[in-house]
Amino acid sequence: MNLLKNLVFVMFIVLLAGCGEEAGVSSSPTPKEGEKITIGFIVKQPEEPWFQMEHRFAREASKEHGFELMELAGTDSEKVLSLIDNLGVKGAKGLLICTPDVKLGPAIMSRAEKYGLKVIAVDDRFIGNDGKFMENVHYLGIAGKEIGKDVGAELYKEMQKRGWDVKDTGVAMITFHELDTAKDRTDGAAEALIAAGFPKEQIYLAPQKTSDIKGSLEATDILLVQKPGVKHWLVAGMNDSAVLGAIRSMEARGFSPKDVCGIGINGTDCIGELEKREATGFYGSMLLQAKKHGYDTATMMYRWIKEGVEPPLDTRTRGILITRDNFREILREQGFEGI
Ligand code: GLA
Repeated sequence: MNLLKNLVFVMFIVLLAGCGEEAGVSSSPTPKEGEKITIGFIVKQPEEPWFQMEHRFAREASKEHGFELMELAGTDSEKVLSLIDNLGVKGAKGLLICTPDVKLGPAIMSRAEKYGLKVIAVDDRFIGNDGKFMENVHYLGIAGKEIGKDVGAELYKEMQKRGWDVKDTGVAMITFHELDTAKDRTDGAAEALIAAGFPKEQIYLAPQKTSDIKGSLEATDILLVQKPGVKHWLVAGMNDSAVLGAIRSMEARGFSPKDVCGIGINGTDCIGELEKREATGFYGSMLLQAKKHGYDTATMMYRWIKEGVEPPLDTRTRGILITRDNFREILREQGFEGI
C-alpha cells in the first residue's frame, strides 16, 4: 500500500515537472552570459510603409546591439497568438507588438507571461477586459490628440491661404473610432478647426470600415453623394492611407486638386504621392518618428532583458509637417535615407 502511495506521489511530481516544461515557464528571465537574445516584433499591417519602417529601424538596433530580431506579421488575432507560441518555443525574451486588435491585450499578456516574454505595446494601446487601457503594460505611441490638433490648425491656415470661402468649404473627417489613437487624432483635428473658427456643422464624419486606403475611399464616396454642395474640401484622417483614400475618391468625382487640401499622419506612406510631378489634393503629412517606434523600442527591450532597465510605462512621440516643398530635406534630417 505504501509502495503504491509512493509511486503515485512520484508520478505526480513527474507530471508537475512535465507541465512546467510544457508551459515553457522561463525560470531565468535574465539571459546567461553569451546567450543570444531574441526579440520578436509583430506588426498588424505589414503592407503599410509605416510598419516596414518600424521593422527597419528595429533591425538597425538589433545589428548595433547584437540581438536576434524576428520581424513578424500578425494580421489577425489567431496569427498573433500562434506567433507568440513560436517565439516562446524559440526561447525569445521580448515582444514588441502593434496588435491587429487592441482587445486582444489580455490574451497577449497571458500568453507572453506563460513564456516569460517581456512586452512593449507599440502604436496601439491594449484595452483590458474592463474596457479600459491596460496601463500596467509598457506602451510607446503617438501624442494623437496633439498631432491631430496640428493637422487641424494647418488645414485652417491652408484654407485661408487659398482664399476659400468658409461657407463653400467642408471638412471630410475620415474616422476610425474603433481605435482610440485614431479617434484622438481626428477629434484633435476637429477641435483645432473649431477653435480657429471653422463651423462645427461643416465638419462631416466619414467612418472607415477598414483602416486602409480602400476603407477611406469607400467612406468618402458615400460622403460626397450626401454633400453635393461643397466646393472645397479639407481632409483629415487617422493616417496617410485615410487621407489618400479620400483624395482618390474626390479625384474620381471630378474635384480639381486646387479644391482639395488633405493632411495625413505618418509621413512614411505618402512619399510616392509627394513625389508626383503634378500636385494632388494631398498637401502634406505629419511625419512621425518611426525611428523612436522601431529603434528606441527595440533598444529599450534589449536593455530591459539584458540589464534589467525597465522602460517608462508610457512614451508619446510627436510629428512634423512635411509637404511637397520640404519633405526630402526633413526625411533626411529624421534619418529616413534611402526610402
Ligand atoms: C496606428 C496606425 C499606423 C500609425 C501608427 C502610429 O497603428 O494604424 O498607421 O499611424 O498608429 O503610432
